[in-house]
Amino acid sequence: MFETMKPAPADKILALMAQFREDSRTNKVDLGVGVYKDKNGDTTVMRSIRAAEQRLFNDQTTKSYVGLQGDKEFCALMGDIVMGDAVPAGRLRVCQAPGGSGALSILAVMVNRARPGATIWLSDPSWPNHIPLLGGAGLNPQSYPYYDSATGLVLFDAMIETLGKAEAGDILLLHGCCHNPTGADLTIGQWQAISDLCNEKGLLPFVDFAYLGFGDGLQEDAAGLRLLAASVPEMVVAASCSKNFAVYRERVGAAMLVGANSEEADTAFSQLLSVTRSIYSMPPDHGAAIVRIALQDPELKADWMAELESMRTRMVGLRQDFAAALRKASNSSRFDFIANQKGMFSRLGLSPDQVGTLRNEHGIYMIGDSRINIAGLPGDGLDDLARAIVSVAS
Ligand code: LMR
Repeated sequence: MFETMKPAPADKILALMAQFREDSRTNKVDLGVGVYKDKNGDTTVMRSIRAAEQRLFNDQTTKSYVGLQGDKEFCALMGDIVMGDAVPAGRLRVCQAPGGSGALSILAVMVNRARPGATIWLSDPSWPNHIPLLGGAGLNPQSYPYYDSATGLVLFDAMIETLGKAEAGDILLLHGCCHNPTGADLTIGQWQAISDLCNEKGLLPFVDFAYLGFGDGLQEDAAGLRLLAASVPEMVVAASCSKNFAVYRERVGAAMLVGANSEEADTAFSQLLSVTRSIYSMPPDHGAAIVRIALQDPELKADWMAELESMRTRMVGLRQDFAAALRKASNSSRFDFIANQKGMFSRLGLSPDQVGTLRNEHGIYMIGDSRINIAGLPGDGLDDLARAIVSVAS
């Protein structure tokens, strides 16, 4: 049977990660995959997470099954940090998922059960795995203009104009904060306009929320999503703990749904749990149990928040320093937008050939669309890096 198959195309981000690992140059720079790195280039286990994991090892008495929803306390705590009090508890349901991608997948399959083949509108550009993931669930991906590379801002008028073509029952995928790959986020006024549009046209907002706490802060980053949640009848959210708890390989996430009322929320949630049962039955427990302990204990939670804040401010500082280095190297304001964008990513605006030259001749790795991981920037080598980038940028 397998002889009938063709090789699957490689995922660009994961292929670049492998290519970087194989590169033997000692001065190579990894600005590829979206993992946070400290000033030494290491992705360490957070202090609060290590302490929570230690506690789990000491206290856990069984590895027996937990259940379809996963760890209920983890779900409640995730509901709190994402939604705050934007929606009444009676309309919100949360289920643990294997990472943000797992949450996206199960929500997409659930939504596709409600409306098979529904159109889902994605920003152009978006995370490259969105189309295979959402399309694979049966949804029909379409794109709306999003990013203005000339200004580094959101092309909001064009976005709204295109979404004018959306029909009732279509789904609107939004990045909750720290847009991947552009770093260009919606303003609160734009979230308000999107909320009005969803209500006028009957669109279902589907928020991918993978970088909470990496933009302007835990509360600030959730403000747009909460505004939307407070005003639309229905909504779904895929939240990831990979980045903000640095538990990447543990695969920790949460799938959330808001129903028009408690009965409809229960019905949709029963469908969501039946999706998980038909794919992987129950989510992995370990990582979510660690996150739960870190959020439950006031001291660990305070420490986690402090650690997250220092990651965030390091990235904000790197953005400013890198924009300044590029300004000096290029003698222009061409790259100034980097200082104002949010989260882990920005796009430099280079061609794939220029990106290839940086990789081959300078050992500088970034995604082919010139997306860079801000956390991978070498704090003490920004001038050299900026000179190399300017040397290839026409
Ligand atoms: C990224 O965009 O680099 C991350 O979300 C990692 C991934 O799985 O692609």
